[in-house]
Amino acid sequence: MNDPNSKKDKLVIAIDGPAAAGKGTLARRIAQHYGLRFLDTGALYRAVALAMLQQGLDPDDAEAAAQMARNLDITLLEDPALRELTTGEAASKVARHPSVRAALLDFQRCFAANAPTGAVLDGRDIGTVVLPEADVKLFITASAEVRARRRWLELGGEASGVPFEEVLQQVLERDARDAERSTAPMKPAADAHLLDTTELDIDAAFQAARRIIDARLNS
Ligand code: C5P
Repeated sequence: MNDPNSKKDKLVIAIDGPAAAGKGTLARRIAQHYGLRFLDTGALYRAVALAMLQQGLDPDDAEAAAQMARNLDITLLEDPALRELTTGEAASKVARHPSVRAALLDFQRCFAANAPTGAVLDGRDIGTVVLPEADVKLFITASAEVRARRRWLELGGEASGVPFEEVLQQVLERDARDAERSTAPMKPAADAHLLDTTELDIDAAFQAARRIIDARLNS
C-alpha cells in the first residue's frame, strides 16, 4: 500500500449508498490514492440486466437472471449501454433475486481477497453482506434532487433530451426498490461512517473520506 503511515499490509474498503451518490467517483479516487484495486459491483448487476434485455428476457424472471449471473459475459462490462437508465432500472430488478446475488457473491469476495494490497468495492451491500469484515465502511448519501441532477448532467443535461423529472423519478424508484428488497437491502452497516455529499464537491468528499480512512490506519 502507498500510505507510508499504514500499519496494515492490506486495506479493504467498503463503499455503499444510493444511486448516483458519487460512490463510483469517490471509490476510484480512494483506490488510486491508497494503491488499491477497485471494483464497481453495480456494473456486475448491470451486466446481468443488459444481457437479459439484449436477449429479450424479463428482468423479473429469477431463474433466467440467475443463469445469466452464473455465466456472466464479462465483455458486457465494457459495453456503453451498461450506463443507460433502462439498464440501471433493470439492474435493480435482477438484483432483487437472491439467486442472482448468490451467484455474484464469490466473484466479489475473491476480487477483494486476491487484490495484493487491498481493494475498494462500491455497491449497496458491501459493508453488510459482501465484506462485513472490511477495515473501513463508508455510506455515501446526498439528497435525491442533487443525485438526480448529477446523473442527468452525466447523461448530457438538456442536450440529452431526457427530462430531469424522468431521471429524478427513476432515482426515487431505484432507491425504493434497493432499500425495500428482502435480500441484502441497501442500508448502512452498523459500523459504517455516513458521508452526506449534498453540499460537497468531489474534492471535499474525498478529503472527508481520507480523514476517516487515515484515522483508521493510524488507530
Ligand atoms: O451502482 P449502480 O447504480 O450501477 O447499481 C445498479 C443496481 O445494481 C442498483 O440499483 C442495485 O439494485 C444493484 N446493486 C446491488 N448491490 C450492489 C451493487 C448494485 O443490488 N452491491
